[in-house]
Amino acid sequence: MVATQKKKKLADGNKPARSNNDLEASGERRLGFPKDFVWGVSTSAYQIEGAASDDGKGPSIWDTHCLQKGRVANGDTGDVACDHYHRWPDDVRLMTDIGVSAYRFSVSWPRVLPRGRGQTNEKGLDFYDRLIDRLLATGIEPWLCLYHWDLPKGLDELGGWLNRDIAGWFADYATLIARRYGDRVKRLATFNEPSVFTLFGYGFGWNAPAVADRTAHLVSIHHVNLAHGTAIDVLRTMVPGAKLGIIHNRQPCHPENGLEANKEAALLLDEHWNKAFPDPQLLGHYSPRLAVAIEPFVRSGDMARICRPIDWFGLNHYSPIYARADAAAPIGYAWGDAPVEAPRSGIGWPIYPEAFRDELMNVASTYKMPIYVTENGCGGSDMPDSASKVHDHERVDYLRAYTSAMKQAMDEGTDVRGYFVWSLLDNFEWGSGYGNRFGLVWVDFATQTRIPKDSAAWYAGLIHRERGR
Ligand code: FCB
Repeated sequence: MVATQKKKKLADGNKPARSNNDLEASGERRLGFPKDFVWGVSTSAYQIEGAASDDGKGPSIWDTHCLQKGRVANGDTGDVACDHYHRWPDDVRLMTDIGVSAYRFSVSWPRVLPRGRGQTNEKGLDFYDRLIDRLLATGIEPWLCLYHWDLPKGLDELGGWLNRDIAGWFADYATLIARRYGDRVKRLATFNEPSVFTLFGYGFGWNAPAVADRTAHLVSIHHVNLAHGTAIDVLRTMVPGAKLGIIHNRQPCHPENGLEANKEAALLLDEHWNKAFPDPQLLGHYSPRLAVAIEPFVRSGDMARICRPIDWFGLNHYSPIYARADAAAPIGYAWGDAPVEAPRSGIGWPIYPEAFRDELMNVASTYKMPIYVTENGCGGSDMPDSASKVHDHERVDYLRAYTSAMKQAMDEGTDVRGYFVWSLLDNFEWGSGYGNRFGLVWVDFATQTRIPKDSAAWYAGLIHRERGR
């Protein structure tokens, strides 16, 4: 259905500015990042690919979740999204224009294994072959994430993350990816934000598969951890020279309104959000509250299976989060509100660059691993002006403040080696649909026209300056 939409070439006038004159005129100064620092952009399969049932792709839990009334704003779906499945050459060109050296994307599990296991889909596998080859040919390193939330529906029908067998299904999927792409892709991550998809998908029930149940939440955490460790062993054995990691969402957790009554809720949210995955994976044990709660589901040998050596810590950061005591809630607390006086982005997320700096330092001292910031960005509701330009000053200010905060952490001795903006393109923002725009590039979802925003030019300038060219 999407293939028939006409491709639109980018007008040259829309390319991000990169000439020396432009940079001098911008008045920005070099911050002094190492020359080999990795500058990239991130996306995920369901949020950009579209082509939801093209070429043999099977359904994911997000395909079916979006069809349920009231789940996603405006009834939006990822059926077409950015039509990246067909327009990927244009999108690689956009990355080249910005000048990134790395692109983090995810593989859609049901595109390559339509039922999640068993029969593979050659056309789906070919798609990522083409993408990877083009990236490499243009000097952009592919960073492949195996799982960014789009579980094959066929596996969900067997219990999904609640079925312990999923560790084996995930390892089989990792085997397929390693065998197919491991000769060219060395940067591999098992999961994107396991704490978010388990908490929102099985705890609060907001995201697919929309289960709100304390036991389900705990079980899903443990099974994802088992799947991670099992897949790491597969990738380590099968991909020579692999640099393996996992991507965690890390935010400081505060009691709503600073109230004593909300403190325990915030400590629990902190364990669920920040610790449920990195602690067992890197320290070999669950944090105190989780250790007690998850104990009934842990079998002998599990912790050793989960805690496998990896090479890098992927850190996604946006803003602090808040919790409120609520004994009636399935997981014992409610999602809290930020203080009214908090500075906020266009979509209402609090802006605190110093929290980012502190979180980087905190992660480095706790887990003692090289960090790559695999997501950071600013949501808004940008629109082009009458001259078809998108002046997203707020995003530029955000990125400037957050990259400076990252540099401060590095100056304090934190080993940060790369930074990926979320996101290359405006895309399908889960429950918020297409209303929340995070892209460096504006997308007209009716025509699929792409317009690089001012932030794309700003990011291009930053990369150019910091590389010292
Ligand atoms: C992160 C997700 C990513 C995107 C950004 C805004 O939590 O990993 O897919 O939705 O938030």
